[in-house]
Amino acid sequence: MPKSPMDRETITALVSDAAAAPSMHNAQPWRFRFATASATFSLRPDLERAMDLTDPAHRALYIGCGAALFNLRVAAARAGWEPATTLLPDPADPELLAEVRLVESDKSQADLARLYPAIRLRHTSRQPFTDEAISETVRNRLRSAAADEGAQLVFPDPWHAQSVLDLVDDAEERERAASPVRDETAQWSGAGAGDGASRTQGVPDHALGPRRWDGRAPVRDFATGRTVPGRGTAVFEQSPQLALLGTPDDHELDWLHAGQAMEHVLLEATLRGLSTSLTSHALEWPELRWAVRDPQSAMGYVQMALRLGFGPLTSATPRRPVEEILDIV
Ligand SMILES: Cc1cc2nc3c(=O)[nH]c(=O)nc-3n(C[C@H](O)[C@H](O)[C@H](O)COP(=O)(O)O)c2cc1C
Repeated sequence: MPKSPMDRETITALVSDAAAAPSMHNAQPWRFRFATASATFSLRPDLERAMDLTDPAHRALYIGCGAALFNLRVAAARAGWEPATTLLPDPADPELLAEVRLVESDKSQADLARLYPAIRLRHTSRQPFTDEAISETVRNRLRSAAADEGAQLVFPDPWHAQSVLDLVDDAEERERAASPVRDETAQWSGAGAGDGASRTQGVPDHALGPRRWDGRAPVRDFATGRTVPGRGTAVFEQSPQLALLGTPDDHELDWLHAGQAMEHVLLEATLRGLSTSLTSHALEWPELRWAVRDPQSAMGYVQMALRLGFGPLTSATPRRPVEEILDIV
């Protein structure tokens, strides 16, 4: 494919694609800078968007930044560039998470570029899914998407899946009882994060999904006790199809790998017609996070729990204007 020009419009479009990535509570905790002379993007965290209580170590924040980095790589590949990517650490610049240099190259970028259509189709779905099973072929494809980014994806057996669901219930109870944590979540939903057309962050009412009348799908209720006009109830899956994403270690670099792997899995799943949602609830409490791990698997640290299946189409959540997150120098 011919390369796109490296003008402001193209650079802005690439960052807009990056920012379509999922992030905890849709906080979008990322900042990009494009150095024109070296054709290089740098990615830094926006620590003002960190969740001090829910994510004190910034693990989830790094995972979101990793997801945005993966989208940037996909968008650059689709525009005809090889996205030469270097991950932290840089001792001289501790806040630098990654650099992506746009390289003119004859190497095929088709593996990344083919995921591009899924960037705008993927949305977190808090709707009920059907009981249709995901085929082993698709599961294998998702496992290798995670492996490509240095992470592991495991589909827990029914016994282990039930224990993960019990841990999510436990986390929900803890959050209900801990009002400062609950308040932090509430700041990112409903009116807390602004509303109407001017809203640029957080989880809007249209993305809440119905309240759970029955079923065991681990769907976080961002209404946090608020009554939302017109919001109904629904029966969710009794045996949701879960997958656990993990890494051998648990440092900043692992979280960036996990974020890229998570987005790779989500885009691949979206291309195959699957709906997806994420649940980090049980991972936000250290004593529960350890128990989510399957003792039978070689997974060191669980970084994310995914729920996959077939469900209704859902719509996009808002994003901040690119001018707020991109500097071109
Ligand atoms: C690290 C991380 C943790 C998340 N945890 C949850 C969660 O526990 N429950 C949930 O419903 N969504 C969770 N999400 C999904 C975000 O709420 C969602 O990505 C965000 O609201 C933007 O919406 P979108 O994914 O539809 O673009 C998480 C996302 C990330 C990256």
